[in-house]
Amino acid sequence: MKIPSRAVITGASGGIGADFARILAAKKTNLFLVARRKDQLEAFAATLKAIHGIEVETLSLDLSLPDASEILFREATKNGDVDMLINNAGIGPWKKFTESPIEDVKKIMQLNMVTLTTSTHLFARHMLAHKKKSIILNVASVAAFQPAPRFTVYAPSKTYVKIFSEILSEELKGTSVSISCLCPGGTATDFLKNNNQALKGFNPLMSSEKVAKIGLEGALKGKTVIIPGLMNKIFSLFPRLIPSGWNVKIAGWGMNLAVSEADKKN
Ligand SMILES: NC(=O)c1ccc[n+]([C@@H]2O[C@H](COP(=O)([O-])OP(=O)(O)OC[C@H]3O[C@@H](n4cnc5c(N)ncnc54)[C@H](OP(=O)(O)O)[C@@H]3O)[C@@H](O)[C@H]2O)c1
Repeated sequence: MKIPSRAVITGASGGIGADFARILAAKKTNLFLVARRKDQLEAFAATLKAIHGIEVETLSLDLSLPDASEILFREATKNGDVDMLINNAGIGPWKKFTESPIEDVKKIMQLNMVTLTTSTHLFARHMLAHKKKSIILNVASVAAFQPAPRFTVYAPSKTYVKIFSEILSEELKGTSVSISCLCPGGTATDFLKNNNQALKGFNPLMSSEKVAKIGLEGALKGKTVIIPGLMNKIFSLFPRLIPSGWNVKIAGWGMNLAVSEADKKN
């Protein structure tokens, strides 16, 4: 598929989202970047504009608010058609369900599932109407394949993103809109720090640049589910080979070996 001319990226103020932006900017795609931290976004946009001579618009918005996707759609389509949407913003506080504040539980579901779904609805219809070849790339996780304790709502939210993307991809076959879903494993971003996890010892994290590159390449080729890295492919296969009761115990044991609970930001 051709390189998109105008892309909307959510969660673009850091991590994997910022790397999607850097890679697309280098390909001369104009950008519309969204996250909550206004200063961070504006400084990043100015850098991308100066280096690549592209147009970069920003929107500071809390995507966990109920009407966020309508605001995003209205602002992003004001100055032109959008032919790529990357639903990347996501949170996953690592905490036992009954010890989590109910506001956190609602926020995970609203951001990771509701806003992603309603944004996909609004932009997919816009893309079908303007008829240019377009891509929607939804960011899930290898957690989509794995029931992991303390990711009680996060892991199912990512399973939802994966299955939603697979079904929609099939529904839109033969149209101008292609749907992909990227399932990263542990990636070196601020995600752990932002989601009350601290690394303990060895952990083979992938770089966010590599994850974003594999995600974009897969989406441009029209792949539906993209799992970056051999270890993550194995992690996603493993839960399908053993009984689910064992699975959740092994995942809990593995997570406890890799991380401890820390202060959270989101
Ligand atoms: N890193 C990993 O190990 C990993 C593994 C698997 C999947 N993923 C998925 O990859 C995606 C990106 O994660 P990341 O690692 O880049 O995380 P990150 O470093 O924590 O970045 C998250 C991005 O989302 C934005 N964001 C968070 N809450 C938001 C809200 N309510 N409204 C608007 N923007 C919001 C943040 O910006 P502001 O704070 O400025 O709003 C930031 O730009 C997520 O969907 C995550 O679930 C990550």
